[in-house]
Amino acid sequence: MSSKNGKLVAVWGSSGAGKTTFAINLALALAKKQLESLVILTDINAPDLKVLLPFEKDLKSMGYLWTRQDADKTDIYNACVVTKSEYICLMGYTKGENAFSYSDYTKDNVFRIYEEMRTMADYVIVDCVPNLAYNMLTTVALETADCVVRMGEAKKKSFSFFDSSLPLLADSRYEREKHIRLLSKVKSDMPIEIAKKYLGCDLELPYIEEAQKQMMEGMLLSGIKDPCYVAVIKEIAERIEKEES
Ligand SMILES: Nc1ncnc2c1ncn2[C@@H]1O[C@H](COP(=O)(O)OP(=O)(O)OP(=O)(O)O)[C@@H](O)[C@H]1O
Ligand SMILES: [Mg+2]
Repeated sequence: MSSKNGKLVAVWGSSGAGKTTFAINLALALAKKQLESLVILTDINAPDLKVLLPFEKDLKSMGYLWTRQDADKTDIYNACVVTKSEYICLMGYTKGENAFSYSDYTKDNVFRIYEEMRTMADYVIVDCVPNLAYNMLTTVALETADCVVRMGEAKKKSFSFFDSSLPLLADSRYEREKHIRLLSKVKSDMPIEIAKKYLGCDLELPYIEEAQKQMMEGMLLSGIKDPCYVAVIKEIAERIEKEES
């Protein structure tokens, strides 16, 4: 990867809202424009690499990278899992790892490594965990992102999550008012007006059966083909491209 001035996109929201699915499909949409993405899968409690790439052997973890104060571009590159798309690299935790697998990361080091990553890709897409208080990769991403995509669902539990979590982002450095609010997994028979009123909504992402199937079959990187889903991803990719970095 040559030297870039990449944008950092944080994908954050309630549990199961479709953040990981969205992050991958956003990277695929950007790849169509020949834009390179580095997707950081931050979940240490239910690692995503083996879920997304069940057929890959020897998946490497990014765990040590964040603990190293001297980590440079080569170390970042070495922690990447190269995918079939020449424009997308993934980074995450592997099967069996948990919160005790690595020593704690310092906030400064996470910030520094994200900055380094921006020089290596057009987009650093951080697939955040809902609970930002216990995941430094998520906290720093939300603080430093050029763009935050905030995903919620038309469910009472999702409303409750944002009631509890949004106050944690009240400080002006989080620029909460600039979040792109995405109401996810929308079905026509849902009380979406209630959800829109409660969560706020800039765009709706439809419920797609294909998404469930792809996840179970380990085929998420093939990309969701449904034209309604693709149209929303495209719209968001365009909005993100217009953001100042
Ligand atoms: N638009 C969609 N329509 C229907 N199902 C979806 C959609 N997006 C994701 N899903 C499904 O919802 C489930 C959760 O998706 P995903 O893992 O992407 O969510 P998440 O927000 O990353 O979850 P977590 O908070 O556990 O990390 C998966 O089974 C996935 O296939
Ligand atoms: Mg996820």
